[in-house]
Amino acid sequence: MAPVPSITASVNARLADALTSALPEAGGADPLLRRSDRADYQANGILALAKKAKANPRELATQVVEKIANGGLIADVEVSGPGFLNVTVTDRAITETLAARAADTDRLGVPTKPEPGVTVIDYAQPNVAKEMHVGHLRSAVIGDALRGMLDFTGERTIGRHHIGDWGTQFGMLIQYVIEHPDELPAAGTDADGEQAMSTLNRIYKASRAVFDADEDFKERARKRVVALQSGDKETLDLWQRFVDESKVYFYSVFEKLDMEIRDDEIVGESAYNDGMPETARILEETGVAVRSDGALVVFFDDIKGKDDQPVPLIVQKADGGFGYAASDLTAIRNRVTDLDATSLLYVVDVRQSLHFKMVFETARRAGWLSDEVSAHNMAYGTVLGADGKPFKTRAGETVRLEDLLDEAVQRAAEVVREKARDLTEDEIQERAAQVGIGAVKYADLSTSPSRDYKFDLDQMVSLNGDTSVYLQYAYARIQSILRKAGSTAPAAHAELELAPAERALGLHLDAFGDTVFEAAAEYAPHKLAAYLYQLASLYTSFYDKCPVLKADSTEQVENRLFLCDLTARTLHRGMALLGIRTPEKL
Ligand code: ARG
Repeated sequence: MAPVPSITASVNARLADALTSALPEAGGADPLLRRSDRADYQANGILALAKKAKANPRELATQVVEKIANGGLIADVEVSGPGFLNVTVTDRAITETLAARAADTDRLGVPTKPEPGVTVIDYAQPNVAKEMHVGHLRSAVIGDALRGMLDFTGERTIGRHHIGDWGTQFGMLIQYVIEHPDELPAAGTDADGEQAMSTLNRIYKASRAVFDADEDFKERARKRVVALQSGDKETLDLWQRFVDESKVYFYSVFEKLDMEIRDDEIVGESAYNDGMPETARILEETGVAVRSDGALVVFFDDIKGKDDQPVPLIVQKADGGFGYAASDLTAIRNRVTDLDATSLLYVVDVRQSLHFKMVFETARRAGWLSDEVSAHNMAYGTVLGADGKPFKTRAGETVRLEDLLDEAVQRAAEVVREKARDLTEDEIQERAAQVGIGAVKYADLSTSPSRDYKFDLDQMVSLNGDTSVYLQYAYARIQSILRKAGSTAPAAHAELELAPAERALGLHLDAFGDTVFEAAAEYAPHKLAAYLYQLASLYTSFYDKCPVLKADSTEQVENRLFLCDLTARTLHRGMALLGIRTPEKL
């Protein structure tokens, strides 16, 4: 299907041409076009151009207007203020452009990037043998949405779930199950995620208790770490059992989140163990890292801690051990060299910002990152409770992610049941999952990721306001209208005049692709969420002002059904990019 240029892009091109031909010696200028209340668009670019050419802006504006080629697109151009242009497009151009979009079932006429890159996204990275918390939820939700958006632009994305599957705690865990072999059931015994997590929790707590109380056990656990690092078979096998058991749990949570996670993209810290000595060698040989008290470290001019002492990044500890930084540096080498990444994106808690700042700077000095390969930490803020404080249970404990999701679904079921007229109990439960999980995702995605956000279930499942439920209802209402229309099918009629509410909706529909591209380029899912919310709002005012099934003529009915249908498809597409379902009935 041929991509459809947006009306904004076409108007912009016309104006840019007119600017160039009105003042050829200036060599062109950006018309600085934006949507406006007075007309469809306002262009402010003439002011800067006039200044540059030392011309009178209003006179220049008048000359530009004369040069604008109309070609059926532009209905009216007016000079206003000090030299702005108010541009109105024709109703015909709006309807014809939307009809071309509607003809493209898959992509609504949105093009793909001419030169896509490869983005490796590091997201959804919980830790082995530990419960997932709300922070892990944000990483998963934001990462999945960014990936959906980037994929839609034609970018190639590769996921990397950098799970915490290595570290000294495994010495304690493994030693404990060696001494209490019945504690870790045979592989596959714990069929569901909840069981798996409770097994892991039990072992974690029990081993911790022995570790803290018994010095001899502590020593055996320490030896076990050495055995693990040196690749002792029995130890490694048990370590693998912990990883596998944890994966049963991870997958159950991801499934609840309605999120697809691929096994080959779960590549945890341990996967980089073999490459770490090489990383250290390169960094030391190139002088990027230096020895300091036996450890191999990297210093930074602008990173200082208490007493103005420099805080280094530790590549290798004095005892020869490698840690979190070495694994991340090795991961960068792998992603750049073996995966051919052009962008590295990390969706990680803002509290790890300093770590990534140091890791990226080190990688730049080593030449792994460059003008061709960029790295960005999409550092997200903290999840707060409704009281505005970091999210905790009443007892002051961290909230179990699964309990939270279950509660969201339960609340959603109440909302759905209240509204449901012709739904069976099974259908209510199915919708409740889509509404509840959608609500959690949308609340997260509709705020700028860098900001903290309040986990407020009452607000999340509310039918009014900027919530996914509001968007899902808009979608379901349209489906119900389309069903009611029976044999009258949506059809565009470009000869019809459009009411103001139809124009506003139509121009917004046309901006879908531009919005996804902008939001993807800026790693800003909240811009897509805001677009969709505005789409639903514009649809609501269109529906209030313009009768659809009772419109004056058959053509009018068909054309309005066409706007309804395209709105529904755009909502569906946009929500899907964010990882949110749009049930047909609610
Ligand atoms: N597992 C880590 C945590 O739970 C997040 C990993 C982030 N990714 C990375 N490449 N370091 O805090």
